[in-house]
Amino acid sequence: MTAEIAVIIPTFNERANIAPLHAALSKVLSNCDWEAVFVDDNSPDGTAAVVQELARQDARVRCLLRIGRRGLSSACIEGVLATAAPYVCIMDADLQHDESIIPRMQDLLRRGGFDLVVATRYGSPGGMGTLTAGRVRLSRLATWVARTLTRVPVSDPMSGFFLFRRDWFDQIAARLSGRGFKILLDMLLSGPKPPRYTEVAYRMRSRLHGESKLSVSVIWDFVMLLAHKLSGGAIPARFISFATVGVSGLAVHMLVLGALHRWLGIAFLIAQTAATGTAMTSNFVLNNWLTYPDRRLHGVAALRGLLSFYLACAFGALVNVATAGWLAAKGFPWWAAGFLGVVAGAMWNYGSTGILTWRDAGR
Ligand code: GDD
Ligand code: MN
Repeated sequence: MTAEIAVIIPTFNERANIAPLHAALSKVLSNCDWEAVFVDDNSPDGTAAVVQELARQDARVRCLLRIGRRGLSSACIEGVLATAAPYVCIMDADLQHDESIIPRMQDLLRRGGFDLVVATRYGSPGGMGTLTAGRVRLSRLATWVARTLTRVPVSDPMSGFFLFRRDWFDQIAARLSGRGFKILLDMLLSGPKPPRYTEVAYRMRSRLHGESKLSVSVIWDFVMLLAHKLSGGAIPARFISFATVGVSGLAVHMLVLGALHRWLGIAFLIAQTAATGTAMTSNFVLNNWLTYPDRRLHGVAALRGLLSFYLACAFGALVNVATAGWLAAKGFPWWAAGFLGVVAGAMWNYGSTGILTWRDAGR
């Protein structure tokens, strides 16, 4: 017999939170058949070993260990796919989410009429707990952007704590992007029609152990996910990020060129060469940080990556010039030929660096 409710808990460096969370879940779910699936991305602090030890004592606990992978959203998705329970709850491991409201959320689903119950920090008696003022403002801003762009009136689309029916998830699973931090937003945007949902307010607690993984690259990822969905899912989020970085590279190029040639009086061709090198390097650094946070290269691998990036981009320049020349010969106006050359070069760079520089290594 499978559990009635599965709690999916993504973890990265949460070893000290596992036992307290397990104890809290055992207590609050004592009246039902439940299981917990911890999805750990091979945390350096040994979280997986702690979960496996617990799983040896409690058969309701499972550890899904992912090696060479990173990402909150994809961890949640794989956790859901690893259970057959009809109700699934997703929550953080860090005890910030108040597990005592799970039975109430589950009751709402059991009675029918809803696909999804979101735990919101914005209702009363809700609250942001002890998040810093900056985090609260950031969270409000992201929520507002998400709501205006998507027209899904959930009060907390950034929530990482919610419960849903498995049959609803099965309808949207194939369309999920699986990138970044915003699994709920991804789910809200991926269905053929908006889910029937309701909300339950709670007060967010503060973290006791470990630290938050929210970072600039996570926020960037969120913006890219929105852009991807706004394009109707046509343009991959990664390509939008890559192209945005490319535009920033153009700005870097012009700045360096201007500074060297106009201000310092360095010969044009030398200045242009230096500007090209600087722009390619800054593009590599930004892409390594923002476009490929899940395959980020460090140390010697980053150096090798940089060289392969230069190589790929040199071919990209050829593709660019050849395409533009061909289109111009076909009678395209200069600006259209030039622009399409740039687009072709960018697509080449995106494809070739995806293989050469940030190879997925088949994982
Ligand atoms: N497997 C895996 N892989 N787990 C991860 C990863 C990852 O790459 N990154 C983070 N986690 C786990 C953490 O261990 C934690 O259990 C949970 O995901 C949330 O991570 P935190 O680092 O604690 O995030 P937060 O508290 O800053 O953000 C929370 O609040 C946001 C709203 O402000 C999360 O609930 C977000 O989903 C939510 O949007
Ligand atoms: Mn947290």
